[in-house]
Amino acid sequence: MTPEDERVVDPGSTDEERRIEAALRPRRLADFPGQGRVRDQLGLVIEAARRRGAPPDHVLLSGPPGLGKTTLAMIIAGELEQPIRITSGPAIQHAGDLAAVLSSLAEGEVLFLDEIHRMSRPAEEMLYLAMEDFRVDVIVGKGPGATAIPLELPPFTVVGATTRAGLLPAPLRDRFGFTGHLDFYSTAELVTILTRNAELLEIEADAEGVQQIASRSRGTPRIANRLLRRVRDWAQVHGRHVVDLAAAEAALELFDVDRQGLDRLDRAVLEALCRRFAGGPVGLSTLAVAVGEEPDTVETVAEPFLVREGFMVRTPRGRAASALAWTHLGLTPPQVPGGVAHQAQGVLPIPTDTSRLG
Ligand SMILES: Nc1ncnc2c1ncn2[C@@H]1O[C@H](COP(=O)(O)OP(=O)(O)O)[C@@H](O)[C@H]1O
Ligand SMILES: [Mg+2]
Repeated sequence: MTPEDERVVDPGSTDEERRIEAALRPRRLADFPGQGRVRDQLGLVIEAARRRGAPPDHVLLSGPPGLGKTTLAMIIAGELEQPIRITSGPAIQHAGDLAAVLSSLAEGEVLFLDEIHRMSRPAEEMLYLAMEDFRVDVIVGKGPGATAIPLELPPFTVVGATTRAGLLPAPLRDRFGFTGHLDFYSTAELVTILTRNAELLEIEADAEGVQQIASRSRGTPRIANRLLRRVRDWAQVHGRHVVDLAAAEAALELFDVDRQGLDRLDRAVLEALCRRFAGGPVGLSTLAVAVGEEPDTVETVAEPFLVREGFMVRTPRGRAASALAWTHLGLTPPQVPGGVAHQAQGVLPIPTDTSRLG
């Protein structure tokens, strides 16, 4: 891959990356930095289940990509000392696909359903029943003569992951006894993660270098890990053996990551908002077309961070640029009577479901 076609801060992962990620994943809850509240709550759910000697309630993990949902699913299985079966919503298009997985689960096994919001409706309905009653109805035959034969399942635990908790139908959401919403990490937490990973990857990095990478990683461990490797590449090619401030700055500039950690997509979204739509508000799909991306990518990858950092606001009529967006692009925010357009007023927060006991 060249710097041109690799979006270094794209939080989706590639094959090569999945291997490295697997090696870097913390295996125990105690080794998982950040997400303190979700971690404590999960710890309690797991410990209680262990004492009862029964599988815990089903767990739903939601939040933007790269924050540790898959990692936590594996940790849950590890802490329960149970095997984990991994599949995903897009892989389960027919109810039969799900029936096959469910009927082969062992007692206590963890079933990880990634991108659970992308399952088909019939599969979803089968899943409700399985989660609640540990039963699936296997349909035998076709047409009017078809009969449903109930099949008992041993108790198991579903861990679902989604970037779009809002898209889950309420009946499915209600089947989860615990929902943890993962939020962006602080720079200090990313420093902890990077320091550990630099050691594991045998990358020599100094405190300033690590700090610089952490502060430009959009609060996302997957991006932090990726930037660490790119800075290491830069240092190696330039004959330095330490990842330091100069290496971090040069490499991050090369890969188009700016001081706030915004990448090309983030800036394209802000540019479109300010230059083409005069600051907005503009609908999500119009905005997505303007930057040549899927609405889903804009909404799950760029938007949560831009909103959290105060560059963009969600208003009842669409997305709008904040004054900060204009100044970040070196533009003058338009003056409107009563102040700057779209300052954080009348703003709808991104619908997140904070961790709750369901
Ligand atoms: N709290 C954390 N501590 C250390 N590494 C983390 C943490 N959260 C995520 N990571 C790392 O970031 C990468 C992406 O995490 P992952 O669990 O796959 O995210 P998600 O499933 O939410 O997209 C993995 O390499 C993982 O090891
Ligand atoms: Mg994942």
